[in-house]
Amino acid sequence: MDLIDNDVEPRGRRAIKQLKLDGCCAAVRYTRESDSTNNLALDYLRSGQWTDGDDAALFLTDHQTGGRGRHGRRWESKDDTLTFSLVLASCDLTSSAGQMTGLAVGVAVANAIEFELAPLKTRLKWPNDVYVDGGKAAGILLETVAGIPKAVVVGVGINVGSRPELRDDPNGSAVRDLSSSAGRKLHRYDLLPAVVEQIVDAIASLEDNLDELLVGFRQRCLLNQQNVTFLIGGTSGQGLCRGIGPHGELLIETDEGLRRLTSGEAHRVRIR
Ligand code: BTN
Repeated sequence: MDLIDNDVEPRGRRAIKQLKLDGCCAAVRYTRESDSTNNLALDYLRSGQWTDGDDAALFLTDHQTGGRGRHGRRWESKDDTLTFSLVLASCDLTSSAGQMTGLAVGVAVANAIEFELAPLKTRLKWPNDVYVDGGKAAGILLETVAGIPKAVVVGVGINVGSRPELRDDPNGSAVRDLSSSAGRKLHRYDLLPAVVEQIVDAIASLEDNLDELLVGFRQRCLLNQQNVTFLIGGTSGQGLCRGIGPHGELLIETDEGLRRLTSGEAHRVRIR
């Protein structure tokens, strides 16, 4: 069942029509304004409208007022930022394939951007920030609802037309937008069908494509062979990044030995 506000952008409507024609989304909620599309998606899951095996549900807004990022940060949007969330059937996120969900979404978004905007190239900063030209252009927030282990909310924000001023992001000084990097003015909704389709396909075929996924991530891995600082729980450390392990974990060689990060975050050490 689709619900679309009257005053949404016509190009957004056209993108939705395309996705429906391609059979990609079973349900769509498209608003003119929302605090957070992840909140809409989580409410939908909590309301019991989703059942295991359902096709993707898409939550899209033209204007997101309270976007949330990873580690409790805010995600700032401009009016030409693409902001949407998907509710997808996934493998249990605690299973070994399920733990790769975040990486898989990062690779899917990177693939869609490169396909649509060739010859633009992307990099991935573990676990799933998408970089172009040395700065972050897209962020991904995965969330789940307790008691519904087979569904995941995948929230995606992409700086398409311009980039916001960032307040509390450690990457704040290095934020990019796709239009500047592609050298032409892009419309956010022209990218939506490709990005959604890549994500839906990647999650549906995750268990069968783990090797391909690792290759896709490793060849774009921004932190590989870089000195990094990392934060996991309350503990911080530093070392040399040795890439991505077989389960999608970030490998860091420290004075105390090899650390395998399965959560937390890592940043390149900046030389001042
Ligand atoms: C990050 O880089 O920290 C993740 C950013 C995720 C932002 C997207 S925008 C759409 C969706 N709704 C939210 O509130 N957050 C995600």
